[in-house]
Amino acid sequence: MSSAESSAETSSSAGQSAARHHGRSCLAVVLAAGEGTRMRSRTPKVLHRVGGQPMAAHVLRAAAAAGAGRIALVTGHGAAAVGQEMGGLGLDLAVFEQTRRLGTAHAVLAARAALEVPADDIVVLYGDAPLVEADTIARLRGRLSEDADIAVLGFEAADPTGYGRLMVDCGRLKAIREEKDANPAERAVRLCNSGIIAMKGGLALPLLEAVGNDNAKGEYYLTDIVEIANRHGMTVVVETTTEDEVQGVNDRTQLAQCEAAFQRRARERALAAGVTLLAPETVFFSYDTRLARDVIVHQNVVFGPGVQVAEACEILPFSHLEGAHVGAGTRVGPFARLRPGAHLGEGVHVGNFVEVKAARVEDGAKLNHLTYIGDARIGAGSNIGAGTIVCNYDGTFKHHTDIGAGVFIGSNSALVAPVRIGDGAYVGTGSVITDDVPADALAIGRGRQVVKEGRAAEIRAEQARRKAAQQPR
Ligand code: UD1
Ligand code: CA
Repeated sequence: MSSAESSAETSSSAGQSAARHHGRSCLAVVLAAGEGTRMRSRTPKVLHRVGGQPMAAHVLRAAAAAGAGRIALVTGHGAAAVGQEMGGLGLDLAVFEQTRRLGTAHAVLAARAALEVPADDIVVLYGDAPLVEADTIARLRGRLSEDADIAVLGFEAADPTGYGRLMVDCGRLKAIREEKDANPAERAVRLCNSGIIAMKGGLALPLLEAVGNDNAKGEYYLTDIVEIANRHGMTVVVETTTEDEVQGVNDRTQLAQCEAAFQRRARERALAAGVTLLAPETVFFSYDTRLARDVIVHQNVVFGPGVQVAEACEILPFSHLEGAHVGAGTRVGPFARLRPGAHLGEGVHVGNFVEVKAARVEDGAKLNHLTYIGDARIGAGSNIGAGTIVCNYDGTFKHHTDIGAGVFIGSNSALVAPVRIGDGAYVGTGSVITDDVPADALAIGRGRQVVKEGRAAEIRAEQARRKAAQQPR
């Protein structure tokens, strides 16, 4: 991917973030034990998707991109499903189960076996706060390699109700006071705890083990490590970020808010990277959408997962793309659908009401109107007439259609797979093609036209007589 390319991925700056910590090892502990009862779902909360990807996967990828070579995932409800789905990301992941929910410090300690393996830095993240960026995690870690023993990620909350408040004095964080334990003066503080904390690896176990549960909720608070560290003369600092980036998801309303924030960020990134969005608020991205420079995206376009669009393409209104690669200078839509495995070359035209699935469309080919192409290849410069359908499915199996270069398929033809159309061949309009067509041949597969002179006039006269006699038959 060139540097000018836009990406919705949190790992877009993965290289730089990780490089900054060269030599410092990092363990990320991701808490994902929340019951998520307010989601009212059979799916574990952290597997709900934002930008087409489970929330937990966003967090794990951001952690890895920020240099976490090992990740400990602490699950609770739905542990097996969460572990299984996250196991497929190709990360060095250990899954732990917190069987009783006794607080955030207790949750981190559920990953004790991972904490016991030495690491320079330990970062605690949350599977239900998916928008945290690799750069922010890297910035937090950066404080550990400077002056800090612990670095807490804070934000100015529009409404601080419910958050832990950060008690800062002379640039040092002295304590985090939970809402339920705070006095009125402390509650007036707007600088809040995101929950995300980085600490020097060697300190994690002793600090966590020193945490008690003598508080309003009777929980083991991770946040208590701040006061404990201060008592031991350690240095605790705050890094800040936006509220948007650390928002968490507890219900479907917050999931929708998180999705909206994700989309805003993806749009801003696309614009900044040289993509034109005619109506940004109507274009929807996935976590891995990649649009190159000078791509123009019209109104109401949806990018599902796995889409790459090369330079100077135009995506016209109401198109839906998923798992598709679009070559440079290609035009898609309006009302086009690219499904997984659609691979369009350069200068291709895919027009209105055209669906392409698992097919290679080579340079300069044109499919402009009302067409379905699945499990196929279309050679360079071929022209596929309006209403052409590839019949790829026989009710049990899928079959392949191979169309060569420079082919002309007449309108409203059905190509019954498996079938091959050689280079330079013509297919007559309205054909049903069941046999291979050699290169440069003309194939016509339809009933011959019959013309009966005067017959229409006879039928009209007959009908007029019946009508006068009120005899429909
Ligand atoms: C926590 C912080 C608070 C911060 C807020 C940000 C503590 C004590 N408080 O408060 O300072 O402002 O997050 O949203 O840490 N979890 C477990 N196991 C547990 C308890 C919690 O996995 O036993 C997970 C939850 O699933 C959740 C996260 O930890 O993802 C935070 O827990 P929650 O109980 O929501 O903490 P808050 O009271 O919101
Ligand atoms: Ca919470």
